Amino acid sequence: MHSKHQRGGTVLPTDTPALFQDAVRQAVELLRAGEVVALPTETVYGLAANALDPAAVARVFEIKGRPAHNPIIVHVSGMPMAQRCAAGWPAVAQRLARAFWPGPLTLVVNRASLIPDIVTAGGETVGVRWPSHPFIQAVIRECDFPLAAPSANLSNRVSPTNAAHVRQQLGVRVPLIIDGGQAQVGIESTVLDITVSPPRLLRPGMIHEAALQAVAGELTSAAGPGAVLKSPGMLRKHYAPKARVLIWCWQNEQELRQRSAEAGVPDSRTHVLSHTHVPSGVGYARVSVIPHDPEAFARALYGELHECDAQGAELIIIEAPPQTGEWRAISDRLNRAAAADDP
Ligand code: TXA
Ligand code: MG
Repeated sequence: MHSKHQRGGTVLPTDTPALFQDAVRQAVELLRAGEVVALPTETVYGLAANALDPAAVARVFEIKGRPAHNPIIVHVSGMPMAQRCAAGWPAVAQRLARAFWPGPLTLVVNRASLIPDIVTAGGETVGVRWPSHPFIQAVIRECDFPLAAPSANLSNRVSPTNAAHVRQQLGVRVPLIIDGGQAQVGIESTVLDITVSPPRLLRPGMIHEAALQAVAGELTSAAGPGAVLKSPGMLRKHYAPKARVLIWCWQNEQELRQRSAEAGVPDSRTHVLSHTHVPSGVGYARVSVIPHDPEAFARALYGELHECDAQGAELIIIEAPPQTGEWRAISDRLNRAAAADDP
């Protein structure tokens, strides 16, 4: 690609049928040539490469600074392609796929031999997802090969939910960024390992445990205390903004003010993300209201964290979400954002 440098970081819009078609054509051309392209999905933006081309997938690891032991999800455009990526397609895979695909669910299945080692981090399983965003669907159909795509952020940082987030973090390192609008789910897919019985929830997402159980029966969870690390997305420190994150409950503004004064960061560099007990903005760098509704909260959360980073926040105080099933994935991401750096 001789034009790589001129084109670095180009953002293409897709908001008319003609622009959409042209963006599909340019994305497919680069992907066929072994390049990487940042693409919208309904969960978060992905950094995509031909999943069957180890050199292209290696570029994804390099651009993200992703450790080689962390496997990548393979994105498909339908059931036949999903089945080609897997060695065997058990009845439970079929039931889950029928219920939740296309959508924000990744199924970990035994891998077919056509999936290169670099995608699975040398393991015998592969994560497969059929995303619902029309743009990535069109690109995969046109390419006629699956796309390996992790979230389009630097490793361990906050995932992007719009094209500007990708541009800020990866910039000219990516030859092409497609703007497919605001991600509608806003946090990463639910990851379910169905190579074990009962199936094991590796990463909670907006397809909740109760919904999965209704289709797949009993599940176990890798997310609980003392669980074995199977999915590196389960590393404690992940999805983190640059600022320190504290998750608190407070009953009134006075209580919040008192505690934040003790945290030792000036209010002028403290951002507060609240959903119920909203303090006045006085003194704080910024006070945001995130809707008290799990779907809307998930959609807004990463945008808020990116904004904190952009404004140079030093401390982010987040009002703790409720401890119920629909909020579980959100609590999981907040806890990881708040975790102290792993040694
Ligand atoms: O919503 C999503 O899943 C987004 C969009 C782009 O599709 N992708 C995403 O990819 O979040 P990534 O790489 O940031 O996170 C993938 C997670 C990681 O925690 C990884 O360890 C896990 O899925 N994973 C992938 N393949 C796996 C496998 N074979 N076994 C266990 N875990 C796997
Ligand atoms: Mg990620």
